[in-house]
Amino acid sequence: MIGGTGLEAVALLDLRTESIATPYGKVTVEIGRFEAHDELIVFMSRHGKGHTVPPHLVNYRANIWALKELGVRKIIATAAVGSLSSRLQLGDIVLLDQFLDFTKSRPQTFYEGGGQGVLHVDMTEPYCRSVQAVIREAGESIGVPLQGGAAYVCTEGPRFETPAEIRMYQILGGECVGMTSVPEVVLARECGMCYATIAMVTNEAAGIADHPLTHQEVVESLQAAGKKAAGLIQETFRILRHEQDCRCQMANAEVGKF
Ligand code: HPA
Repeated sequence: MIGGTGLEAVALLDLRTESIATPYGKVTVEIGRFEAHDELIVFMSRHGKGHTVPPHLVNYRANIWALKELGVRKIIATAAVGSLSSRLQLGDIVLLDQFLDFTKSRPQTFYEGGGQGVLHVDMTEPYCRSVQAVIREAGESIGVPLQGGAAYVCTEGPRFETPAEIRMYQILGGECVGMTSVPEVVLARECGMCYATIAMVTNEAAGIADHPLTHQEVVESLQAAGKKAAGLIQETFRILRHEQDCRCQMANAEVGKF
């Protein structure tokens, strides 16, 4: 589980903190069990405790490498998003479906050529359909409605967008906007891990809202949506299973390595 803004912990049993050395730096995670389940859950806070790491400086490669190293097979990430579409209302929970990448400065791959090889990883279905199906099932069972099929625009941040940028993203088909899903989703796929994002709509995007955007607004909105998301995550943990009908594990079969 990768917790985004507003989600800095999950209730796990026998919790321990572990540091993992990766070629990209050290990563600290929490590991525990959920209820009576034997399988371990790894929790990672994307922005660190107290939101200290901005989106463009998150060490995405170290984070994903550490999860792979720990034997994680399925990642559920959360993200706060602004809405570009009247379909996505404040407080809605959204399963991301596609992304438009407008990041600028982030290493996007583990495959840097030379000994590491080159991988042109398939992104036809960036977010894992199997994990999404389980999250949808969890939503149905606890009565949390989910919006699906959303195209997420990933901006570089840390600034918010201009209204002109938001209009451009709308024309391009973007429905929500955030600063973190790319390259996280790409790196997870390069490692053959399943990855899905539960996004929470915290604000109307710049220029749609009739007021300037603040991080405080995002954090306050998360208090309501975050409760719904926490219930959804717990139910997802309860019913998550090994079977999957996705091809995520095969994603790096051409080149292998990681
Ligand atoms: N823009 C970018 N990132 C965000 C937003 C937004 O409006 N809301 C939450 N994360």
